[in-house]
Amino acid sequence: MQHSRRDLFHMAASALAFAAGAGGAAFPAMAQTGLKDAARAKGIEVGSAFNGWFHPPLLRLLIENCDVITPENAMKAGNISSDDGRTLLPGEMDDIAAFCLQNGMKLHGHTLFWHQSLPAWLGAGDLDEARQAHLRHLRFVMTRYPQVTSWDVVNEVVSNETGAYRSLPVLDAHGDAFVAFLFETARELAPTARLVLNDYNLACGAAFCDRKRGRLLSVLERLLRAGVPIDAVGIQAHLAPRWPVVPAPLEAFLREAGDLGLDVLITELDVNDIDLPDDIAARDQSIARIYGDFLDTALASRTVKRVSFWGLTDRYHWIVEGHAPFRRTGAAPRPALFDQELRPKPAYFAVRDALLRAPERTSGG
Ligand code: XIL
Repeated sequence: MQHSRRDLFHMAASALAFAAGAGGAAFPAMAQTGLKDAARAKGIEVGSAFNGWFHPPLLRLLIENCDVITPENAMKAGNISSDDGRTLLPGEMDDIAAFCLQNGMKLHGHTLFWHQSLPAWLGAGDLDEARQAHLRHLRFVMTRYPQVTSWDVVNEVVSNETGAYRSLPVLDAHGDAFVAFLFETARELAPTARLVLNDYNLACGAAFCDRKRGRLLSVLERLLRAGVPIDAVGIQAHLAPRWPVVPAPLEAFLREAGDLGLDVLITELDVNDIDLPDDIAARDQSIARIYGDFLDTALASRTVKRVSFWGLTDRYHWIVEGHAPFRRTGAAPRPALFDQELRPKPAYFAVRDALLRAPERTSGG
């Protein structure tokens, strides 16, 4: 009998849920404490991106290490909505949502608005047209997945150059009014979910990260003052050794976000090994140090309530797949905590130790 990809996924996911309920007897327990266990006593959630692969050992890894799953691509508007935006094409997203429910994991909604996944129905019309199209989209997606406990309402909308927002027709024309509309609509449709403004270039010590942090804080300040319901800022944290993290400005940013009454979520943590040596042992040590140092700085702030990785293993990873803006040539990249065979690497232990060292905080729920 032939099984479809979805059948296989459901069989694997149910077997795992069953095994977890039966004390995990069907699968050998990990030798190490899972990351979520290391983090729980500290009030920190651990998460990962997930594309719905049905590779059972990966599912087990996610269950053992994560409190929360972020759909890596399945929920993006360009993937989940029809060409005219009038129907939903959930497919893979339904699988991921069911996997989370079956295994007691939270679901983080990623994302309601992202310029790299803008379907044609967005248009460049007036504010009313933009509102109507997005209202329909938010209604479809948010009512289909009521289990989502936090939403990246907007992703990467803050400008990397000048002005407040990235240059896009709808943001050029309507800026704050449009962003406010998205957050207000999200609040109405999911009153108890945590609403996040997610962005990148916020972790490093380079001048462009300094400017981005400043710009993002002034956008947040203005929106919050106008009563826009934003609960948290998401720091993607795609780290790379060519733009190292510098603790002081990151600490200042976390403090200022906290002063605005916001929580901070680390939403897409990974380390691009592009400039590191080919030698695997040396490279793995450097990668581990970058993860560990970043988390020591970030988790010292009690405003940080979640650490989510953009994939747990090199086997399924956007940097290895060549989707990230840069990728080392020659030796295969090793950006994640677990290798191609899902064995923990030094980065895993560095992350676990940083979680164990972190001060306690009240969990954001
Ligand atoms: C990336 C995915 O990982 C890739 O598979 C896809 O081809 C492009 O998008 N910031 C984000 C994520 O917010 O949605 C991006 O995900 C990575 C950068």
